[in-house]
Amino acid sequence: MLADVIEHLACPVCRGDLVLSGGTARCANGHGFDVARQGYVSLRTGSAPAGTADTPAMVEARARFLGAGHFAPVAERLREVAGTAGVVLDAGAGTGHYLAAALGPDAVGIALDISKHALKRAARAHPRIGAVVADVWRPLPVKDGRAGVLLNVFAPRNGPEFARVLAPGGTLAVVTPTSRHLEPLVGELGLLSVGEDKERRLGETLAGRFAEAGHMIEEYEIMLGHEDVEAAVGMGPSAWHTDPVARKIEIARLPGVLAVNVSCRISMFRKIT
Ligand SMILES: C[S@@+](CC[C@H](N)C(=O)[O-])C[C@H]1O[C@@H](n2cnc3c(N)ncnc32)[C@H](O)[C@@H]1O
Ligand SMILES: [Zn+2]
Repeated sequence: MLADVIEHLACPVCRGDLVLSGGTARCANGHGFDVARQGYVSLRTGSAPAGTADTPAMVEARARFLGAGHFAPVAERLREVAGTAGVVLDAGAGTGHYLAAALGPDAVGIALDISKHALKRAARAHPRIGAVVADVWRPLPVKDGRAGVLLNVFAPRNGPEFARVLAPGGTLAVVTPTSRHLEPLVGELGLLSVGEDKERRLGETLAGRFAEAGHMIEEYEIMLGHEDVEAAVGMGPSAWHTDPVARKIEIARLPGVLAVNVSCRISMFRKIT
């Protein structure tokens, strides 16, 4: 619930402390932010460019795919990384699937995402998650040095802000797909593939503030039926660019069950002090 994490959040207008009263998060300077019926609060300032936030259909597909356990080994790794951290922040948390899995028995979780559709689910993903609409490209509505662990799973990164909110000695864990992720689906269906230079870009966005402290490659095969394939396509970046009917026809041509590769890099970073 938001009440579990409100002490770590900051007013997006004046950076002051926030308190919850009567379904509103307020600062001492009179800025107020209504808590939605579904339990999340929007602390976003300004507007986001269209085509950034995951849509209801994408969120639904992602929830279905993750719910089937296809990425469970990745979630398990993140639980190990989070260890005994008291505050875990997930930037680009989506449905809160990984954040919920990562929380230890006494930990609280802050789910940040620009999609309120995703956060409706994140707010319910775990009793100690507070879900907050925020744009990762702007100053995060989180106080300095609060996150013992910061998760960033298939989502955008903001190096300076990540460094500011991470506690001294804390760990930033970034999950990125390798070039083998979701093959042969990417090739078979002409999905958007991972940019060749993604790893280089990851290094660049964090350079100067973070040093890599280690990494793991999580790679295994999953067997997907047509519904799973539809969910995998519908939750990814290609969903923005493909017509659902054409996609369905293409999927119908695939074998009934397809062996698909899951291949992610989990990179751990520490702040350079
Ligand atoms: C590929 S999804 C990953 C979600 C989640 N981490 C997972 O793996 O299930 C990317 C997420 O980043 C969010 N996102 C995209 N741009 C964002 C931004 N500028 N600020 C915050 N979240 C953003 C999307 O709404 C979406 O939930
Ligand atoms: Zn304020």
